[in-house]
Amino acid sequence: GETAHAYQQSWTFSGVFGTYDRNQLRRGFQVFKEACSSCHGLDFIAFRNLSEPGGPQYSEEAVRALAAEFTVEDIEAEGGERPAIPADRWPDPFENDQIARDANSGALPPDLSLMAKARTIHQEFPWWVFNYFTAYQEGGADYIYNLLTRYAEPPEGEELQPGMYYNEFYGPIVMPNPLSDGLISYEGEGTPETVEQYALDVAAFLQWTADPHMVSRKQMGFRVMIFLVLLAGMMYLVKRKIWANAH
Ligand code: HEM
Repeated sequence: GETAHAYQQSWTFSGVFGTYDRNQLRRGFQVFKEACSSCHGLDFIAFRNLSEPGGPQYSEEAVRALAAEFTVEDIEAEGGERPAIPADRWPDPFENDQIARDANSGALPPDLSLMAKARTIHQEFPWWVFNYFTAYQEGGADYIYNLLTRYAEPPEGEELQPGMYYNEFYGPIVMPNPLSDGLISYEGEGTPETVEQYALDVAAFLQWTADPHMVSRKQMGFRVMIFLVLLAGMMYLVKRKIWANAH
């Protein structure tokens, strides 16, 4: 069969020096908003996070306008509701889990904020060894990408329950295929409007929501390594000096 390695995409955030691509995060957010947010929440993301450095980094003005598209509950507001502000969290699509299940054949669409950490592709030998040395931490993005690109007809002879779809990567699944070619119009020219590209972009965005400080962590790790090398060199010279007259 296919190995885990075959499922891996080449992400801009792969490897020791990988970083998020701001334009890809913006496209991925657009995919989330237009194709996923009708069923899935994004509980750990506040609107203002979308303007922070290292993420999609929209202008604060754009984020204020985006927030104002939504209404949130607020017991202190007149009528119990008010337009959202940048400090508000991303609003859930359903009022509660029961309503969410009732709308989805009994299955609960999970919150996607941390999905890229909650799910990862199982690594088979020898790929996990290889991945260890290349600092592979994209398993969650690979999982989401494969889930979104492998909807298919069920295998010959397999009956699906009503309300179920088939996915080669996942098996029978309640989530209908959310993507189709041309579904989302990207601003500007040159980025393909295909399921493949939407899946890459939304997977990258969800990697960022799950691990927003990945880039600064890698940079700090690299500085720490340089510091340790310099410190080791200096300690060696100190040792030579201290023991210079030992005989
Ligand atoms: C499950 C992503 C759109 C309904 C999931 C899972 C992911 C995901 C990662 C978890 C699969 C697992 O458990 O391993 C996405 C993305 C979307 C999207 C990235 C947009 C591109 C939608 C939409 C709906 C939906 C529009 C509703 C019409 C569900 C449901 C489940 C699910 C019901 C639970 C599946 C089950 O238990 O069989 N989705 N989803 N999703 N999603 Fe989505």
